[in-house]
Amino acid sequence: MPILRWMTATLLGLLCLAAVAAGAGKGWTQAELAQLQELSLASLPPLPADPSNRVADDERAAELGQRLFFDQRLSSNGQVACATCHLPDRLFQDGTPLAKGVGTTDRRTMSIIGTARSPWQFWDGRKDSQWAQALGPLESAVEHGGDRTQYAHLLAAHYRADYEAVFGPLPDLRGLPKHAGPVADPQANAAWRALPQGERAKVSGVFANLGKAIAAYERRIEPGPARFDAYVTAAAAGDAAKTQSTLSRDEVAGLKLFLGKAQCVQCHGGPLFTNDEFHNTGVPAARGLPQDPGRLAGAKQVLQDEFNCLGPFSDAKPQQCGEIRFLAADNASQLRQFRVPSLRNVAERGPYMHAGQFATLRQVVEHYNRAPAAPQGHSELQPLGLSAREIDQLVAFLGSLSGPVKAERRWLQAPSN
Ligand code: HEC
Ligand code: HEC
Repeated sequence: MPILRWMTATLLGLLCLAAVAAGAGKGWTQAELAQLQELSLASLPPLPADPSNRVADDERAAELGQRLFFDQRLSSNGQVACATCHLPDRLFQDGTPLAKGVGTTDRRTMSIIGTARSPWQFWDGRKDSQWAQALGPLESAVEHGGDRTQYAHLLAAHYRADYEAVFGPLPDLRGLPKHAGPVADPQANAAWRALPQGERAKVSGVFANLGKAIAAYERRIEPGPARFDAYVTAAAAGDAAKTQSTLSRDEVAGLKLFLGKAQCVQCHGGPLFTNDEFHNTGVPAARGLPQDPGRLAGAKQVLQDEFNCLGPFSDAKPQQCGEIRFLAADNASQLRQFRVPSLRNVAERGPYMHAGQFATLRQVVEHYNRAPAAPQGHSELQPLGLSAREIDQLVAFLGSLSGPVKAERRWLQAPSN
């Protein structure tokens, strides 16, 4: 009889719906859920201290650092600041394959969000702290193009009170050349070599402090939660409705591939989706650029860097410099290894890889799927055998890692003064 049949059908329908909903919530085993939670921003530990920078957590240093980060006078042509390439409204990068300052670099601009947490800086890890990192572009002939005495004079002329409030009195800089530093410019370089050792140390100390103030600023810029993180919270709570409304089926399928068949999590693990290590993944050489040895050169450089954690300008005790004390250089396997970048916000900041070799995330995943031989050294990748659909799903999943920048609003724009 019709009414009974109708009721039975409705009841069956409701039962089916309930089963699907429960099934979605139970899509993950306990072990998988634990793995998901390790990737969630909720697992991000508090920002570690930087013993090599005694002003790392000083608010005044961060304010000074922010002004320096946006100051174009810190360049040879008065037109380049850190923010020229690390644009706050573009996730602190620039969206181009090779960065442009005074000239053009051989590498792609990295985002600075959350990178205070990384033990190594740059694609090749040639710096071991964010303050030492900041000094690199300032002296690079193609980035800021300036030199050490120029920057010291600039601090004395325009930032004296703020500098001294943080670091104590500036040394007497009178009589020092306008331009001198261990840079490519032959005149400035000769002027630097002509200075007595004591004068050079004095200037280098001021230069190191400039980096320490900038690092105090950069530390305050962290990644904020993405849809992926909301999904993990919902999945852990068994909230099936919430998981379904947070990630699409394709995104969830992509996540499963990321953890399983595609093995991405091996290198892109942890809440920032990076193991902070260096790997050779057979990324093709960039056209028209010299061969890039990657970590092989970077490991040697950081050991020799006068601004490393063990050097005279570091505030750390040698035993606090674990990373660099145990670093091995000259290891053939380091050839063409590059730093594993964070995948947070990755969909918003192409092109990809150390020289912007790939324009889209699909090209990136196709590269992993093919696993071509490396142009130098040995690629660690194996072909993945992903179908076109699976490639799309992985790309879709990567899009779920986008979230806002987590920082006080005032740090995300040029300072008003
Ligand atoms: C001309 C563009 C340009 C300018 C100007 C510039 N950078 Fe960069 N930045 C880059 C590029 C390119 C890289 C990667 C370079 C490499 O690996 O060799 C990079 C890397 C970095 C990194 C490393 C992030 C990581 O995850 O390892 C930090 C931090 C950074 N820059 C901060 C700064 C600061 C601070 C300044 C100003 C003192 C600055 N940059 C000026 C282009 C620029
Ligand atoms: C063996 C370690 C390793 C594995 C496995 C791995 N990656 Fe990577 N990934 C890297 C390294 C190293 C780079 C940077 C390489 C370069 O620039 O030359 C990178 C770069 C990327 C980038 C570019 C990010 C950027 O800012 O330029 C994306 C996207 C990416 N990986 C996604 C994935 C996905 C998806 C998988 C799984 C299919 C995966 N990775 C597997 C090590 C790995």
